Amino acid sequence: MTADQEKKQAALEAVKYIKNNMVVGLGTGSTAKHMIEAVGKLVADGMNLTCVPSSIATEKLAKELGIKIVALDAIDKIDVTIDGADEFDGKFQLIKGGGGALLREKILAWNTKFNIIIADSSKDVNKLGAFKLPVEVIPFATKQILTYLEAEGLQPLQRMQGDASYRTDENNTILDIDISGIDDLQGLEIQLLKVPGIVETGLFLDTTSLIIVGKEGGPEVKE
Ligand code: 5RP
Repeated sequence: MTADQEKKQAALEAVKYIKNNMVVGLGTGSTAKHMIEAVGKLVADGMNLTCVPSSIATEKLAKELGIKIVALDAIDKIDVTIDGADEFDGKFQLIKGGGGALLREKILAWNTKFNIIIADSSKDVNKLGAFKLPVEVIPFATKQILTYLEAEGLQPLQRMQGDASYRTDENNTILDIDISGIDDLQGLEIQLLKVPGIVETGLFLDTTSLIIVGKEGGPEVKE
């Protein structure tokens, strides 16, 4: 199976958790795209769903598919959110934000009763950190935070889009850092979020309820 086939298989398994009249959080990325298309089919088949998107790109795709979209402040809690990940480990800890949507994705996850992560098998790791951790930073403080992260040995790289610095949906920048040598992820999260100007990190340490991995022979559901 290709990675994309695994992503689609995981996505199709995940939408089975969606029931009529639910509020559904829609993730971002190539795996989430398969899920959004499947949600579009549920809606076309008559299911009543209200969805909250985690990015402008997801909102656009969902609207094209006829999915009812509302802002987060229009609802109380999200019943189920389905999103991708860049890496996950055996403790259900994740690195997210490869697609730059980590801030809204984390807000959705925090406001959701049941978070499902969908992934191809390459995302399953023993230890987080081969993938660089995205850290979202306000532009005003980016240079100073880059210097701080360098001094901490985290080897930050400013994410670029062509010649310009990459901007998130919230118009912030992203610094991708190397956490491969770090064992205390909770400590790192606390340390980073104390820095004025760091808005959020792509570490999702305790929000995930279920992980569905696409695999030869059928999806693996980890709970
Ligand atoms: C976007 C994300 C994505 O979930 C993550 O990057 C995985 O992407 P893909 O499904 O394309 O592999 O966090 O901010």
